[in-house]
Amino acid sequence: MHLFKIAAVVAALGSGADAAVRQLPVPKSCSGVAAMRYQYKVEGGWSAVKIAGGLKQVRTVVWDSEGNMLVSQNTRGISVHTFGADGCINSTAMLISGNQINHGLDISPDSKTIYASSETTAWSWSYDPVARKISNQKTIVKGMSTGIHSSRTIAVVPQNPNLILLQVGSNANFDMASASPSTGRAIIKVFDVSKAPSGGYNYNTEGEVFGYGLRNEIGFTADPNGVFWGVENSGDDFTRTENGQRRDIHTDNPAEKLNNLGDPTKVRNAWYGYPTCFTVWNAANFPNSGLKTGSHFVVSPNSTYNDATCNGKAVAPRLSFQAHSAPIANTFDAGAKNMYVTFHGSWDRQPATGFKVVQIPFTKLADGSYDPVAPADSMTGYKDIFGATNPGSCTANGLTMSNCFRLTASSWDPAGRGLFVGSDNSAEGEIYLLVPPAGQ
Ligand SMILES: *[C@@H]1O[C@H](CO)[C@@H](O)[C@H](O)[C@H]1NC(C)=O
Ligand SMILES: *[C@@H]1O[C@H](CO)[C@@H](O)[C@H](O)[C@H]1NC(C)=O
Repeated sequence: MHLFKIAAVVAALGSGADAAVRQLPVPKSCSGVAAMRYQYKVEGGWSAVKIAGGLKQVRTVVWDSEGNMLVSQNTRGISVHTFGADGCINSTAMLISGNQINHGLDISPDSKTIYASSETTAWSWSYDPVARKISNQKTIVKGMSTGIHSSRTIAVVPQNPNLILLQVGSNANFDMASASPSTGRAIIKVFDVSKAPSGGYNYNTEGEVFGYGLRNEIGFTADPNGVFWGVENSGDDFTRTENGQRRDIHTDNPAEKLNNLGDPTKVRNAWYGYPTCFTVWNAANFPNSGLKTGSHFVVSPNSTYNDATCNGKAVAPRLSFQAHSAPIANTFDAGAKNMYVTFHGSWDRQPATGFKVVQIPFTKLADGSYDPVAPADSMTGYKDIFGATNPGSCTANGLTMSNCFRLTASSWDPAGRGLFVGSDNSAEGEIYLLVPPAGQ
């Protein structure tokens, strides 16, 4: 066991929380926590320790100002976990029990308000992080659509904590009606919780549109400037039709996306392309087109709408990921030197991909903005740090069954030790701490 020196505390916007969090050691193992359930490999000098097991499907992990870990467990609710001096969890309690809670969870920068969601509804609670008690449940948004994508990611805007972002995915692989933001699908909306009507906003008719044309933007997180970065799950079973000829391109296209969504206090109605424009991963499927990785394409170009139309209209992703990676959650480390993304893994590709955590190196540009190091057409803008030993043979029966972990939550430890990630494999909900090599 060694004590980790905390580097410069993140200057998290509007948050005095990090400065108060104590240092914790990295445990070699935690008593009472069974071994990692699935075989894994670590790369680049990272190591992994299992911090919690025996949970329901872990979907989201956030932290309060006391350094307690809050976990959303699909169909169970929200649990709260304290840490002992050995760096392991020393108490666990249910904070909010409710089998409708399935994914979304966030906490205000002052730790006084918790937000969580079901497929149709988002709620807030007053929270006391010292007593670890909630009170005053309110419905803040209701009436979200149901469909094939049921997670409703929720995030507090750090530079204006009255604002929350709330996401709804498409209700089909190609949800053509979602081209209109009034459907309230394939969209992220902004709501001012300080003005929420009693009984909550109606998702489809109220709030403002932050971005739309987002097929299923399950993960999004703010950089230190309050600019949000989202990871998007793109479509399955794709073909490309040109001059009447239809080709199967599904194994390596379309790319999953990393979108720069902008500052939610400023950006409105940005369009990211779905259900018309998709992103190239492997350009070899688009011969003689001039398209590169990261370019937009249409499934079936015609005389009024072709690839160039997309590339003129839709906001392009800032980086793309291998088709069918299924990115679920993203987070920055201290100072936003890197972003980390959990890949839930695929069913629509043989061999399978995903079932891993990747690191995306970021840099701070001269104008003070944060940006990935790699150019937008890169296929190597991220690297693996942790994953299933043999991801190509991982099965994906339904959303949460597999012979491998199904990685979800991605959250940088406020005590500075590394990256917490979750698994929502229905056989066992687990949480691991991934520790970077010394000096990183
Ligand atoms: C957990 O550990 C902390 C730090 O050692 C201690 O203050 C706290 O009382 C412990 N809580 C439980 C429930 O053991
Ligand atoms: C051309 O393609 C666009 C985008 O896919 C589609 O909306 C439109 O209906 C198509 N037009 C014709 C005539 O097929």
